[in-house]
Amino acid sequence: MDQEEKKYYAVIGYPVGHSLSPAMQNAAFEECGLNGEYTAIEVAPENVGAFAAKARTSLAGFNITVPHKNAIIPFLDEVEFLASLQGSVNTVINRNGSLYGTSTDGYGLEAALKESFSFEIKNNSVTFIGCGGVVKALAFHFASCGVKRIFLLNRTLSTAQTLCDALRKEFPAVECACAPLADEETAEDFFQESSLAVQCTSLGLKKDDPPPVMPELLPKDILFFDTIYKKTPLLQYAEANHIQSANGLGMLLHQGAKSFSLWTGKEAPVEAMRKALYEAFYKANQ
Ligand SMILES: NC(=O)c1ccc[n+]([C@@H]2O[C@H](COP(=O)([O-])OP(=O)(O)OC[C@H]3O[C@@H](n4cnc5c(N)ncnc54)[C@H](OP(=O)(O)O)[C@@H]3O)[C@@H](O)[C@H]2O)c1
Repeated sequence: MDQEEKKYYAVIGYPVGHSLSPAMQNAAFEECGLNGEYTAIEVAPENVGAFAAKARTSLAGFNITVPHKNAIIPFLDEVEFLASLQGSVNTVINRNGSLYGTSTDGYGLEAALKESFSFEIKNNSVTFIGCGGVVKALAFHFASCGVKRIFLLNRTLSTAQTLCDALRKEFPAVECACAPLADEETAEDFFQESSLAVQCTSLGLKKDDPPPVMPELLPKDILFFDTIYKKTPLLQYAEANHIQSANGLGMLLHQGAKSFSLWTGKEAPVEAMRKALYEAFYKANQ
C-alpha cells in the first residue's frame, strides 16, 4: 500500500444499498496498491446539489446511478460532449475542486459485447428494447462508434421518437427507426434486420415480470444482451434456444473499469474487479 493520502470515492443513487460497485472498486484499489476507499451513498433527489457541493472537497471522484444520472448535470463544472448529448453522466472526476462529468456506460457495453460475442459496433445494426436513460447513453455511444442502424422499441413511443430525432440530428449517417413494444410485426422486422438486440427495460428485475416483447420474435442467429444482471424471461428464452446471450454483469464490470482508469490514470485490474464483482453478486443472490 503506498503512503499517499487516502482518496475517497463513492457511488450515489436512490436507493443504492444493492450496488455491487464498492466490492469491485475496492478490489481494484487493493490490487493496484492504491490508498483509496469507495462507498455507496444514498442521496435523495432533493439533495443531489448539496451532495455535489460537498464532493468538491471530500471526494476524488464518484459514480452516479439511477435516478441521478441526468439530475447531477447542472451541478457539474464541465460535461464531456457526448455525455451532454446523452443527458447522462455516470462518472465524475474531481479536478482540484472542479467537477468533470462523463459517461462510461457506452464503453462498458461495447467492451462487454467484444468480450462475450467478439461483436464490433461499426457497420452493424442493433435493436434496443426500452428507451430509458441507459438507452440514451448507449444509442449515442453506438452512433459515435459508427453503428449502421439503430432500432428502438419502447412502451411509450414518444420517448423513442424524441431519441430517434436527436440521433438523426447529431449523426445523420446513422439510420434510426422506432416502434411501440406492442407492435409485434415491426418488432420482428427490427430483430430480423439486427445482428444484436439489447434488453434495456426494467422488466425482469422483479421475479414475476413478463418479458417486454414476445421472446419467440428473437431470431435464432441474433446476439442477445440483457442489461439486467439476473435471468430475465428473455435471457432464459435465449439460453434455452441456443441464442448467443449475456447478462449485464459484463457491462457493469467494464463501465467500472473505465471509471477507475479515469480517476487513477492507471490501467484497471479487470480480472481482480471481475472476481470481486461476481463474488459480491453471488453472495447477494444466494
Ligand atoms: N448492466 C449495467 O451496467 C446497467 C447500467 C445501467 C442500467 N442498467 C439496466 O437498464 C435498465 C433500464 O435502466 P434506465 O436507467 O434506462 O431506466 P429508466 O430510465 O427508468 O427506463 C426504464 C425503461 O423500462 C421501460 N419500462 C418500465 N416498465 C415497463 C413495463 N411495465 N412495460 C414495458 N416497459 C417498461 C420504460 O418504458 P417507458 O419509457 O414506456 O416508461 C423505459 O424504457 C435497468 O433495469 C437497469 O438494471 C444496467
